[in-house]
Amino acid sequence: MKLVAGNSNRPLAEAIAAYLNVPLAKAQVKRFADMEVFVEIQENVRGEDVFIIQSTSFPTNDHLMELLIITDALRRSSAKRITAVVPYFGYARQDRKSASRTPISAKLVANLITHAGVDRVLTLDLHAGQIQGFFDIPTDNLFAAPTLARDIKEHLDGGNRMVVSPDVGGVVRARALAKRIDAQLAIVDKRRERPGESEVMNIIGDVSGRSCILVDDIVDSGGTLVNAADALLAKGAKEVYAYITHGVLSGGAVARIASSKLKELVITDSIMPTEAVKVAHNIRVISIAPLMGEAIERTATEGSVSSLTWH
Ligand code: R5P
Repeated sequence: MKLVAGNSNRPLAEAIAAYLNVPLAKAQVKRFADMEVFVEIQENVRGEDVFIIQSTSFPTNDHLMELLIITDALRRSSAKRITAVVPYFGYARQDRKSASRTPISAKLVANLITHAGVDRVLTLDLHAGQIQGFFDIPTDNLFAAPTLARDIKEHLDGGNRMVVSPDVGGVVRARALAKRIDAQLAIVDKRRERPGESEVMNIIGDVSGRSCILVDDIVDSGGTLVNAADALLAKGAKEVYAYITHGVLSGGAVARIASSKLKELVITDSIMPTEAVKVAHNIRVISIAPLMGEAIERTATEGSVSSLTWH
């Protein structure tokens, strides 16, 4: 097996390599003066089972292009099988025509990755599970839920916990986590009046006196979480935590979270945390390296990947 890292999240790639006890392959992924991406794989990969570790996170287009060009370099170097390990799959929120004459960019990106020469994809908490079907190659969508549930059990008192979906679309994900930690479920009925803005309307469920845990796949501007936390506290919640898989945290999100009433936001390292994230007093990052590493190991040895979600 060979592991090749793009530039999107080197610390995660190194942690996965350490878990697998396999060094990252020698490779250069750099820029020409005009910012073209140039890749050189500096060791033999002929006949190898190669895993490229690259989240298509900010700057999304650059990291996507790196992934495509690394794939091309590996294909032309006669790698036997190429797996794109994409812990955070950017463009996933553009998974349907949201209005007339708009693109389905998640499908376009899936086509680009497939046509570049990837044989299979390993990803984590896709915004919508159906995106797996955008790829006509095997695609494993891992769940962070077992990792998050373990952390919740270690850090939050059991008796009083309530899992909250910050919008109706996230109910299935929140219900799955609630089941894992044996907690009840509440739902924030959120109405978004304009793109980029969110507004909390109503809470379904009795949250008074509860330690609420907001669960979602993505925190981007932070608006959804901060508004949901305010609404839950207004309804008598004792405290509000958030467990989110992908910390996109663009613009002023970290400052917004830091000055919010959220007791703690826990995210995974599917996206490399910025310095601002690392020093924020109420943001904590937990690693999905063991989960991704184990899935890579099982893919390489033709073991079951789905059984990873049971633990
Ligand atoms: C939306 O459907 C997603 O699941 C998240 O709720 C959304 O991306 C969060 O965005 P923001 O942090 O900008 O409110």
